[in-house]
Amino acid sequence: MGGTRLNNMKPTIFISRMIPDRPLQQLKIACNVTVWEGEMPPTRRELTAAIAEVDGLMSMLTEQVDAELLDAAPNLKVISNYAVGYDNIDVAAATARGIPVGNTPGVLTEATADHAFALLLAAARRIVEGVAYVREGAWKTWNPIQLLGYDVHGATLGIVGLGRIGHALAKRAQVFGMKIIYHGGSNEAYARDTNAVQVDFETLLRESDFISLHTPLTENTYHMIGADELAMMKRSAVLVNTARGGVIDTDALVNALQRGLIGAAALDVTEPEPISADHPLVHLPNCIVVPHLGSATRATRERMGMLAAQNLLAGLRGEPLPNCVNPIVYAKREA
Ligand code: GLV
Ligand code: GLV
Repeated sequence: MGGTRLNNMKPTIFISRMIPDRPLQQLKIACNVTVWEGEMPPTRRELTAAIAEVDGLMSMLTEQVDAELLDAAPNLKVISNYAVGYDNIDVAAATARGIPVGNTPGVLTEATADHAFALLLAAARRIVEGVAYVREGAWKTWNPIQLLGYDVHGATLGIVGLGRIGHALAKRAQVFGMKIIYHGGSNEAYARDTNAVQVDFETLLRESDFISLHTPLTENTYHMIGADELAMMKRSAVLVNTARGGVIDTDALVNALQRGLIGAAALDVTEPEPISADHPLVHLPNCIVVPHLGSATRATRERMGMLAAQNLLAGLRGEPLPNCVNPIVYAKREA
């Protein structure tokens, strides 16, 4: 066997994709680290083999971590998801096995809100169509009725899920002179701080000029935006999704965009994800699709990595994770 005696005493961890250098170096001090270096995620079979003997797993949102996978990793003491969302993990299965699961809230809030607002502005002012227009050589003169979009100032923004990211988006919208309504999320300080008015879901759908989704994907939010909800929206409504693709029924959205039932959509996340280049959604002029970039800045991804590393190291030491999504595992241990 390779490695020194000391190295052999270090816990072993698997990281399912290359991460920024700073958190990686920090983990290497304390652990024997294996990083999956492929651009594509490990296949199910590769992942199963890779975690057979590890003490810790750092997973990405591309990995489905379920009971079957966990049973293939009998030594596993902690799962650290490199994301705030954790719909890719069967948390109940981890809890049943006494395994704490960590995520990375907070550190990506502002970056994700920036991204949602960038998509909102881009869709409202038809930035992507404008770029294509110039590239195609269609720009021959100035035209009073060409590529007209929607006013953002003075418009009503409906936020579905006024949590951390929804609130950070509301702060941006406020300085743009938008009126803010929201449904879901019950933090009164967030609402007061941004003059956001709580409304029922149907009112939000009917009254918003822009709708931005900020809910986790759960059984309750799966396809929360379907044909009926799209039909209630204004014909000029712009729908922004930086949450999870599964919150929207994709087929219903394609239909609504094709028939002009809503004005436009701007999507950072899709169902399925990734979406193939020949999918109709990708070719609709009134739809912008970008490849899940909400937290994709250098500084934010490094902060996510540091938090994910802290979660992993705490779990390996048997200490509570700084950000644990199933703290009930600790109660179970003491019982
Ligand atoms: C990204 O989508 C995340 O959940 O962090
Ligand atoms: C998660 O929802 C976050 O805002 O960090």
